[in-house]
Amino acid sequence: MERVKLIELLNDMSLEEKIGQLMQLSSNFYEDEAVLTGSAMEFGIGENEIDQAGSTLSIFDPETIKKIQQKAIEKQPHHIPLLFMADIINGYKTIFPIPLAQGCTFQPELAKECAVVSAKEASAGGLHVTFSPMVDLVRDARWGRVMESTGEDKYLNSLFAKAIVEGYQGKQLKDKGSIAACVKHFAAYGAPTAGKEYNNVELSMRSLREDYLPAYQSAIDAGSAMVMTSFNTLDRIPATGNKWLMQDILRNEMGFDGVLISDWAAIEELISQGVAEDKEEAARLAINAGVDIDMATNIYIKHLAGLIQKGTISESQIDKAVLRILTLKNDLGLFENPYKDLNPEEYSRYNLCSSHRELARKAAADSMVLLKNEGILPLKKSGLRIALVGPYAEELHLYGAWSLLGEDKDTVSLRVGMECAGSENKLYCIKGVNLIPDQEFLYGFKGLVTERNPVTSDSFEEAVKAASEADLVIIALGEHAYHSGEGGSKADLRLPKQQRELFEAVSRVNRNCISIIFSGRPLDLRDISEGSKALLQAWFPGSEGGNAIADLLYGKVQPSARLAMTFPYCTGQVPVHYDHFNTGRPFNGDHKNRFQSKYLDIPNEPLYPFGYGLGYTEFGYSEVRLSDTLMKKQDTVTASVVVKNMGEHAGTETVQLYLQDQKASVVRPIRELKGFQRVYLEPGEFVEIMFEINEEMLRFYNHNMEYTSEQGAFTIFIGENATTNNQAECYLQLD
Ligand code: BGC
Ligand code: BGC
Repeated sequence: MERVKLIELLNDMSLEEKIGQLMQLSSNFYEDEAVLTGSAMEFGIGENEIDQAGSTLSIFDPETIKKIQQKAIEKQPHHIPLLFMADIINGYKTIFPIPLAQGCTFQPELAKECAVVSAKEASAGGLHVTFSPMVDLVRDARWGRVMESTGEDKYLNSLFAKAIVEGYQGKQLKDKGSIAACVKHFAAYGAPTAGKEYNNVELSMRSLREDYLPAYQSAIDAGSAMVMTSFNTLDRIPATGNKWLMQDILRNEMGFDGVLISDWAAIEELISQGVAEDKEEAARLAINAGVDIDMATNIYIKHLAGLIQKGTISESQIDKAVLRILTLKNDLGLFENPYKDLNPEEYSRYNLCSSHRELARKAAADSMVLLKNEGILPLKKSGLRIALVGPYAEELHLYGAWSLLGEDKDTVSLRVGMECAGSENKLYCIKGVNLIPDQEFLYGFKGLVTERNPVTSDSFEEAVKAASEADLVIIALGEHAYHSGEGGSKADLRLPKQQRELFEAVSRVNRNCISIIFSGRPLDLRDISEGSKALLQAWFPGSEGGNAIADLLYGKVQPSARLAMTFPYCTGQVPVHYDHFNTGRPFNGDHKNRFQSKYLDIPNEPLYPFGYGLGYTEFGYSEVRLSDTLMKKQDTVTASVVVKNMGEHAGTETVQLYLQDQKASVVRPIRELKGFQRVYLEPGEFVEIMFEINEEMLRFYNHNMEYTSEQGAFTIFIGENATTNNQAECYLQLD
């Protein structure tokens, strides 16, 4: 439809119809009989209002979507189709590794492929919009939702944000297989105080702009059709009612002109947060902030018309919001074809098809970080007696907390993966302890979560016995998927006690322990790391998890992932991130000097730094060479290193470039990631890696909050992770 036609349509709509477009209803409203009895009654709306709704969330079944859409078009006075939205986070039916794991691939293009597949499956299933990507910068592993982010680094997150949006949206939203992206949660939801879910966020304006906004900006620049508000406050003002944030920053500065949706019931929460007296005031604050869609409450539908009547808000505010929603529907081609790509035959053909599974397997293997290996990996293919113990030995829930459609029956467990890959080894599999700690009541999205296959009382002893008789032990430990994700904040980042006890007992009887950790966050793995010969961080790897781990353990695939989030030494060290500041008294390693910036009881260094990860070979680096040690404003300086595979296996190195501005008008991070290149090298092979450095890469918010660079010396680091000391110095000259 042409834009003039859209405007004509808008002008022809009643106020009631327009406000209907701003309301989003969940699946509960469409369960035939339940419509008016359950949710709708509570909601205080009738059938007529349901018929006016503009969008839905969390309706998945394609046949149901078809029926609802059919009815909606009939009933809506202008036959405006509904938008079907849902959280497709790390896969629709084919489940990919969780986003934090995808961040560790350091391959945005791979995340893009996963997004393309998710969009293909979801659109055949009848969906139009996914509430993804979440690009919130995360530095505090206590917060359960770190699993939904691609990590702690603004540069890396920005690359992933762009890639994922492009993956979902394709060239045009209309095209077959495209769905609209909704970047979230705007803004800075990833920095809740003390890692506590929904907590307030206290950030300096500089940190907001410099660290937190870039990834959202990148998603917006990539064309993200939607943005979701966040639950948190920022500068003591809840984001969902924050006019400055949504209008001045998001719309005017960042140039977003798409649809802004509230997070789940976030408009109503303005009341509990204490900035709105009642629902009417909450509606006013949100519409004035420019929130177009009210997710999951009746506030807009109940109060916007009254506010217009009173003259508190204007109808033109509603018109603007409606026009944005109609534009999105039009961009998706829904006026021509309200079902878009919905196709039950393709839906069954695409879901979990072999090429999608293959991609899931590759993405999972490329996302698992080998943290330690004392020569025990890769494994021999035959002649080994292996004890596979721990609660994840046969677990099938490997898709994380945000997979609404992932099913156990479609998942390859570690046991099955190991059996397929190493059929000439002997595998003894015993769980040992439960995944959910005894006495714990764990609630997921659908209520109480219970242990699937609870252990018998002698399982612990059997696991230890199997370990004592084996050549080596693979111990599969971790947190339950619902220990992370939304509402998954934790104050203790260690593994549950009974898993630690199992590890202790097993590692006492067999020193050849290979530990595999499944989690949605960096855990405190001090003891596990120390007691293991090898340690693999497997995250929640998705449908092909077991195969991917076996691929790595048997060396069919070389481990190549790098940490996108620092692994803390212990919980007391968080929030922790590599791009921190020097203090006036940086610690120089001299413990006798009390008056330096450090802890008395733990090291300053994390257990494993950002950018860290091992493979089955080692790489040597030459010194950093520069094309010039002086860089003028328009110049480019080339920094290069020669990287050589020094080991006996082929492997992939992720060569990382960091810059440090040595002195500026404000304190600058000790280094910042500015580039990386993945390079595959055969044993003995070497290659020269070059990075182009320019003035733009040195910009920051200066003393006067201008985004600019300042003259002076800067350090260029090129190496294997964020702690590299391989460096050279250059000088930026501006005049
Ligand atoms: C979450 C969002 C999600 C929404 C809809 C909220 O609770 O914070 O990330 O998109 O629910 O499911
Ligand atoms: C302390 C001050 C103290 C000063 C003189 C500094 O190290 O931070 O609080 O007054 O020494 O003793």
